[in-house]
Amino acid sequence: MIRVHLRQTAVAVVLLAGCTALAAAQALTQQQIEHRIDALLRQMTPQEKVGQLVQYNGDTPEAATQAKAGQVGSLLNVYGADRINELQRAAEQSRLKIPLIFGYDVIHGYRTIFPVPLGGAASWDPQLIEQSERVAAKEATAAGVKWTFAPMVDIARDPRWGRIVEGAGEDPYLGSVVAAARVRGFQGNDMADPQSLVACAKHFVGYGAAEGGRDYNTADMSEQTLREIYLPPFHAAVKAGVGTLMSAFEDLNGVPTSGNPHTLTEILRKEWHFDGFVVSDYDSIHELVPHGFAADDEQAALEALTAGVEMDMADGVYAKWLPQLVKSGKLPMSVLDEAVRRVLRVKFRAGLFQHPYYTNAERERTEILTPQNREVARRLGAESLVLLKNQNDILPLPRSGKKIAVIGPLADDQANQLGSWVGRGQAADVITPLQGIEAKVPQGTVLHARGVDISSLDKQEISGATGAAPAPVGATGAAATQHEAGPATIEGAVRVAQQADAVVLFLGEPGGMSGEASSRAFLNLPGQQEQLLESIEATGKPVVLVLESGRPLDIRWAAEHVPAIVQAWYPGTEAGNAIADVLFGDVDPSGRLPLSWPRSVGQIPVYYDHKNTGRPSSNDRWHTGYLDESKEPLFPFGYGLSYSTFRYSNLRVLTPQITPAGMLRVSAEVQNTGRQTATEVVQFYIHERVGPTSRPVRELKGFERITLRPGENRTVEFSKSAQVLGSYDPQMHFVVPSGTYDVWVAPNAAAAGVTGTVQVAPK
Ligand code: NOJ
Repeated sequence: MIRVHLRQTAVAVVLLAGCTALAAAQALTQQQIEHRIDALLRQMTPQEKVGQLVQYNGDTPEAATQAKAGQVGSLLNVYGADRINELQRAAEQSRLKIPLIFGYDVIHGYRTIFPVPLGGAASWDPQLIEQSERVAAKEATAAGVKWTFAPMVDIARDPRWGRIVEGAGEDPYLGSVVAAARVRGFQGNDMADPQSLVACAKHFVGYGAAEGGRDYNTADMSEQTLREIYLPPFHAAVKAGVGTLMSAFEDLNGVPTSGNPHTLTEILRKEWHFDGFVVSDYDSIHELVPHGFAADDEQAALEALTAGVEMDMADGVYAKWLPQLVKSGKLPMSVLDEAVRRVLRVKFRAGLFQHPYYTNAERERTEILTPQNREVARRLGAESLVLLKNQNDILPLPRSGKKIAVIGPLADDQANQLGSWVGRGQAADVITPLQGIEAKVPQGTVLHARGVDISSLDKQEISGATGAAPAPVGATGAAATQHEAGPATIEGAVRVAQQADAVVLFLGEPGGMSGEASSRAFLNLPGQQEQLLESIEATGKPVVLVLESGRPLDIRWAAEHVPAIVQAWYPGTEAGNAIADVLFGDVDPSGRLPLSWPRSVGQIPVYYDHKNTGRPSSNDRWHTGYLDESKEPLFPFGYGLSYSTFRYSNLRVLTPQITPAGMLRVSAEVQNTGRQTATEVVQFYIHERVGPTSRPVRELKGFERITLRPGENRTVEFSKSAQVLGSYDPQMHFVVPSGTYDVWVAPNAAAAGVTGTVQVAPK
């Protein structure tokens, strides 16, 4: 085996030119990797073993010394090719020359920022999602990062929970498809490729079920819900070859997930045969103590490692306690060895032993924020937009002859287009919506006013209890744009709107209002935005509302009064261009909601695959629902309009009788009945009529994006293993019961679409 430890940047440049080939040429077999690990384990002292399980945060003055002493296996939040190579050289000087692995939260891009993950999921386009993560991987590895703490694959059904923005929404099937796409994108065909990142599916598991939507809070659910709703995206990530997982902060059914043998050992290791490693979430091993699960850090270390958390993020608990736990005999050496083996296995698979210097200053200079990378961000940004309403075809906007007023606090704000977790994304790189619109109408007149500000995260402003102090109007924008004079006021914005033929209003949340520790009790537009909206609407001008947020907001008033509404999430670096592409019709809106959009907070959780109950809808009072609110969401899961229309017909169940071992095949015709080429997301749902447990009214089991010319008719076929009809019985056996199943091919979870039935007979 040749070990390539490059010391000189010049040499590195030459060799890196062929490094993909290098990775392939030197790929180690699994057996070779295990032999190498055996050899290392034989040489390692207990301290060196523990060192591999320790991850420290940040670029500290001690980092190089710790690396040389073999006291650390990984660092997080360190980046920059030169610095990373310097630290890697320090690790190379350690007794056993075990390389470090550098982790970072590359959540939706490294420097070129893509739509927030929830927005990416709204594209329902796994190929493009994968491509975006490939770009993220190239950029991050160029800057020395080799491991991303993504994808977050937590199912989330409560938009009060700020981290809903980081996942793929409410559905286990869509969540699984997106999880696998992201893993493939990050890791490529080979984690050892210098342009590949090791992925980390997080947060294992149930973190999104936090009670009350309060971050870090307890989750309590049945084993059936765990297995049918929360685990599938993790399983999909594991099947896609994800290198690592992260345990979560919360306690699940009474046992904190960072010390939970049921999920970490029984399910992950034994049932799924996962052989990579699990890293704790930040401090979450120590937090077993405040959870009341461990008496002190010593016990926390023992519980976490024994349960199956191999690497300790940031809190130093393993570094401090594992050596003496081994010495005292409380921790068997075999448990420690297994953990070290898993960490080393991932380091081998990531190619770190073969080419620890996978980047250099040249890569960092040339591979980041390239026009090609930005182009992928623009495409995914446009595909992530969901057209919620378009009365009288007010959209797309005309390109000429009209004065457009671009109003709102987010219209010309760069930083807030990025959302939360922005990696190394820079506000200065961002195209704002105002700039994007200006570029579409070079001859036209664009007017601009902010109206109100939402810059602070002050609690009163969030709840809308008091107004923010007026701030000066922003000065960006092209010369053609006329800016409102003076401070941002609702009156000033109204005056600007009155001069225009149409208004595009950019409202929502500041990017930092979703993400970690960003739970909300109310889902209103923060600050004075609702007043701004109502005042602008009162001008009588046609209004297009573009919402930018990391969660669905309470937009009941807007849904009733505003003719056009687009949900834009946070599209990222190319936000303005992506939004303008859709507003002006260069791209047909093809985003679809990855969650049910609640009408009001009181409905939460509201999700499409609920149970029927014994008292479903009825005209009398005695059924499931509310006295004072509909139980239906404002917009259903899977919903989104296009600039065209589609007709569904001719559903055919090609396999009307199947056994659990068979294939289920269903087709339907979809026709573009509008006047322009457009993309539809055709969705396939099932429902088991009678089973050993009550079943959801519908479950998504497939989807396909199709682009059709006007008048074009296409037959879309879904071919699935009959196992997709299965579920867990009360004894937690996975079964595909005999009986009748409904199937639908439909444009969203609430639409009738076209429907039929299939019979499952015993083998
Ligand atoms: C805590 C977050 O929960 C997790 O998602 C993240 O990866 C780590 N911090 C590291 O930043």
